[in-house]
Amino acid sequence: MSFHRLGFGTYRLTDPEACERAVKTALDVGYRHVDTAELYENEAHVGRAIAESDVPREDVFLATKVWRDRLSYDDFLESARERVDELGVDSVDLLYVHWPLDTYDPEETLAALAAAVDEGLTEHVGLSNFTPTLLEDAVSRLDAPLFAHQVEMHPLLQQEELVARAQAEDYWLVAYAPLARTEVSDVPEIRAVAEKHDATPAQVSLAWLLSKENVAAIPRSGTPAHIRENYGALDLELDAEDVDRIDDVDREERVVDFSGAPWA
Ligand SMILES: NC(=O)c1ccc[n+]([C@@H]2O[C@H](COP(=O)([O-])OP(=O)(O)OC[C@H]3O[C@@H](n4cnc5c(N)ncnc54)[C@H](OP(=O)(O)O)[C@@H]3O)[C@@H](O)[C@H]2O)c1
Repeated sequence: MSFHRLGFGTYRLTDPEACERAVKTALDVGYRHVDTAELYENEAHVGRAIAESDVPREDVFLATKVWRDRLSYDDFLESARERVDELGVDSVDLLYVHWPLDTYDPEETLAALAAAVDEGLTEHVGLSNFTPTLLEDAVSRLDAPLFAHQVEMHPLLQQEELVARAQAEDYWLVAYAPLARTEVSDVPEIRAVAEKHDATPAQVSLAWLLSKENVAAIPRSGTPAHIRENYGALDLELDAEDVDRIDDVDREERVVDFSGAPWA
C-alpha cells in the first residue's frame, strides 16, 4: 500500500460508534492513511470501520504503535500480534515504537521491531517521540529501513532539525497534533494567510506542513465538517511568501509534554 501524506489521527476516539463513524467519514472523504495505537483502545473500532467501508483494505495505509510498557523483545512481538488481531487485518502497513521510555531497550526493542517485519506483522517500521540523539542510536541498530518518525509538529513547534534529518535520510516525518489541538487558530500569521486564501487556519497549518518535503500530517477529528475541511488542505497551495511568513513564527510550544519526556 502506498503512503499518503495526509492521514487521519484517531487519538481520543474511544467511543466505538463515534470512532467508527469518524473513520468511515474520513475514508468517504478520501483519506487513505489511518493512525491508531495500542494506547488509544480503539483498534477494534478502527478495524471494523475499514472492514465495513467501501474502500478496500489494500487501499488504506494502516499504522499503529506499541505502548511503552511492552518494549522488551518478547512483549513487543506479543503486542504486535495483538495489534494485528485487534485491527482484524492480516498485517499493518506501519508499526511504531510509541515512546522510547519505560521498558525501551534499544537492543531488544529494535530487534523485535525488525522481527515484526520478518514475521509478516508489518510492512514498515517507525519510531515516535525520539530525540535526535536517540534516533541516531536507533537507526544505527535497526535492521530494517526506518520508514517514519512520528513527532509533534505544527507552526508552533517547527522541528527544523528533525525535518532536515528526515529529508537527508529520506524517511517520513509524520507530524502529530498538526493543529496543536486547535491552538494554530489563534496564531495571527496563520489567520492572515488563511484570510488571504479564503481558507481556514486548520487548512493553512496542514498545507504548511505538507509544503515541507518528507513531512506528513495526521489531524484528528470526530466532527464530519472538520474531517472534510482538513482534507481540503490538499487543494490549498501556499506560495513562498506564505510559507516564509509561517516559518518565521518563532515559538516553541508543545501540546504533548511532561516531566520525564525524552526531550525534557
Ligand atoms: N505518537 C504520539 O505520541 C502521538 C501523540 C499525540 C497524537 N498522535 C496522533 O496524532 C493525531 C493528531 O493529534 P491530536 O489528536 O493530538 O491533535 P490535533 O489533530 O492537532 O487536534 C485535534 C483537535 O482539533 C480539533 N479539530 C480538528 N480539525 C479541526 C478543524 N478543522 N477546525 C477546528 N478544530 C478542529 C478536534 O476537534 P473535533 O473532533 O471537534 O474536530 C480535536 O479537538 C492523533 O489523533 C494521533 O493519531 C500521536
